[in-house]
Parts: sequence; C-alpha cells; structure tokens
Amino acid sequence: MKKIVTIIGARPQIIKAAALSRAIKNHFQDQLKEIIVHTGQHYDANMSEVFFEELSIPRPDYNLNVGSGKHGEQTAKMIQGIEEILISEKPNALVLYGDTNSTLAGAIAASKIHIPIVHIEAGLRSFNKSMPEEINRIMCDHASTLLFSPTPTGYRNLINEGFKELEEGPFSVDRPKVYHSGDVMYDNSLHFSTLAKEKSSILVDEKLEAGSFILGTIHRDNNTDNPERLTAIFEALLEIAQENKIILPLHPRTKKKMQEVLSPDLLTQITNCQNLQLIAPVSFLDMVLLEDSSKMIITDSGGVQKESFFFKKPCLILRPETEWVEIVEAGAARICDADKDIILKSYRNFMSNPPQDFEGIFGDGQASKFICGEILEWL
Ligand code: UD1
Ligand code: UDP
Repeated sequence: MKKIVTIIGARPQIIKAAALSRAIKNHFQDQLKEIIVHTGQHYDANMSEVFFEELSIPRPDYNLNVGSGKHGEQTAKMIQGIEEILISEKPNALVLYGDTNSTLAGAIAASKIHIPIVHIEAGLRSFNKSMPEEINRIMCDHASTLLFSPTPTGYRNLINEGFKELEEGPFSVDRPKVYHSGDVMYDNSLHFSTLAKEKSSILVDEKLEAGSFILGTIHRDNNTDNPERLTAIFEALLEIAQENKIILPLHPRTKKKMQEVLSPDLLTQITNCQNLQLIAPVSFLDMVLLEDSSKMIITDSGGVQKESFFFKKPCLILRPETEWVEIVEAGAARICDADKDIILKSYRNFMSNPPQDFEGIFGDGQASKFICGEILEWL
C-alpha cells in the first residue's frame, strides 16, 4: 500500500480534492492510502465545512487551523505544521492543488525533506508576477516530481520553462515528469451536475428562474483591494442589472472590502438594487446548479471561468489576463479586466451573439483516475 498526503486549505482545493478521493475510493482502495491535511486557510463553514459531506470528501486527518494572515505569516505557519506531519507520516508523495499559499507551503515543506511532490493544475501561467498565485505556482512546479497540466497550454508552458518530455522513469525533482492529464474539476462537474439538479434548492430559495439570470463572483485581491477597480466592476454590474437579474455569492474577502473601498453612495445603490442579489457563499452543488441555470457568468475566479465553459455559458473575465487561454481562444470568454466600458460592451455582444464552441478542452472526465495510476506507477 502506498501513502499520499494531500494538502487542502482554500475552497477550490477542497472541491478539487473530492475528485481524487473519489477515484481512490472507486479504483485504488487497496493500493493507495490518502491522508488529508487541511491547513485552515479557509475556515468559515460556507468556505470549508459545507463541502465535505456534500461532496463525500473524507474528513481531514489533520487541521492546522492557521486561519487568515499576511502572506509570510500564514505561509510560515503552514510550512511548520506540514513539515511535522510529513516527518511523522513518511508518505510516498505529497499531493498539491493549484496555486494558493497552502500549495506553496506544501511545496517548501516537502521539497526540503525530499518527499516527492505531485502538482495537480501544473503549468498554468498568467505571466503576471504581481499575482501571489503566479509566484506560488511557479515555485511549486519547479519543486515537483510529477506535474499534471489540465490544458495543452499549461503543458507547453512547462516545456518552455525547460521541463523535458520524458517517457521512462524513475522520476525525481531533478528529473520530473510532465503530463497533459485533463482537468480534475471537469471530472467533478460531470460527476456532480446530476446530483446538483436532484439536491440543490438554490433556485427556489433565491426565487430564480432557470435561464433568466446572470451569475457573478468577485474575490481576486487586485479587484477587491483596489477602490477604482472594485468601483468600476460594481458600476458595470448595476448597469447590467437594469436589464437582467444578477446573483452574486460573495466571498468573505469581498464582503469586507466593499465596506472599506466603495463610496457610501455606491454601497447604497447596490443595497437598493433589487436586481443585484448579493448572497453568502454557496455550496458546490448550489454553485453548479446556478452555473448550469445561468445565461452568462461574470467572474474573476479561475475555477468559475472554467465551469462556465463546462456548462456552455459565455463568460466575462474580470481580470487583465487569464491562465485559461483556451476558453478565450474558443470565443466562449472575454477578458474585460475591471474596465466598465469593456465589461458592458462584452456583455451586450454576448447577449446578442452567444458563443457556440464549447468543445473538449479539459479532458475526458477521467483525469483523477489517470493521475492516481501514474502516482502508483512512479512514486
Ligand atoms: C485565496 C487564494 C486564491 C484563491 C482563493 C479561493 C492565496 C494567496 N490566495 O484567496 O488564490 O483564488 O483563496 O477562494 O492563497 N476570509 C474569511 N473567512 C474564510 C477565509 C477568508 O473571512 O474562511 C477572509 C479573511 O478576511 C481573509 C481574506 O478573506 O483575510 C482573504 O483570505 P485568503 O485565504 O488570505 O485569500 P483569498 O482571497 O481567499
Ligand atoms: N464556488 C462555490 N461556492 C461559491 C463560489 C464558488 O462552491 O459561492 C466554487 C466554484 O464552483 C469553483 C470554486 O469554488 O469550483 C472556485 O473557487 P474560488 O472562486 O474561490 O477560487 P479560484 O478558483 O479563483 O482559485
């Protein structure tokens, strides 16, 4: 029996972990044991707890409870806690997802004590190093032994950074193996979309009619912490809300920052706008149903951009660039930055001319099973 330690911490990592845990349970139960470590980066019930039962994710074996903090402070606490666990658990590999501070902490802790790292969502690049996530993902990729890229672009990025196209092992941090594996979140969206239709009552609860509303999310620090950008985004949303209902499950960061950075006048307009429905973060099944039932998605989230493509919805990306370039190239998403005019123009464009091409970028829905097989073969 081989043993992996999986690090989760932020909301999207908890959701991603469901895919691999499910693949282990269904196909590799006698060969692969998974120990789950929750760093505690996200801790509100609706940012963490809600996902475990709903998505059948095993309860974490450890919770470091690090909570929020400045980057260095938060990451340092995580490194210390993860190192202790790795020393006592002695796993064959450490599995890391994405690009958060929890990912970086895992990469630093494991690489220094020579535990091979498996990076899921490897190779994604925004080519914007002012993003904390860009630093986290580059550092994690370059400390990893098996790198699973969800897209062809991610794979190419790794080759461009000097990773070799190797076939035969053994693999190590100095001789890493890169894959184009498909996306574990595509596995999840396929798996949970039927369940969401059966179980979620979000449309009734929020009095929404399928196909009649726009879904939005905002949480990226360069939007929430910048008064001009957050103002421009909300001004655009208010204008769109004159024609279409918008539902906005609010990340706790955004909820806090809105009060600090938006003018009292804009806050009053937002509160009084019946068509702009601000709600607490929702569960994944609720989110999947909202995505599937929406007519357009407006977001700065990495995960939600992709899910808009999975559910064949046009997407306005509230960022200056994206790592998911394939969905923009397919014409299914537009980069709007936080520019009010571009957001409105792109919205109108998509309303009158919805995109049609949503075909196969993210694999075959079996990425997690493939990843488990490779871990078993090589680590
Ligand atoms: C983090 C990730 C980001 C990811 C996002 C997913 C980093 C550097 N950023 O951003 O890549 O897209 O998670 O959602 O790792 N807060 C709460 N309750 C919580 C969690 C956070 O109130 O349960 C508030 C705190 O005020 C905290 C702030 O949100 O300071 C930001 O949380 P943090 O985890 O530092 O970053 P995110 O913006 O969530
Ligand atoms: N999500 C959710 N509830 C919400 C908002 C998002 O379950 O209220 C899910 C979403 O479907 C996606 C993931 O959280 O799978 C994305 O997380 P987030 O936007 O926080 O982070 P990012 O993907 O940008 O790192």
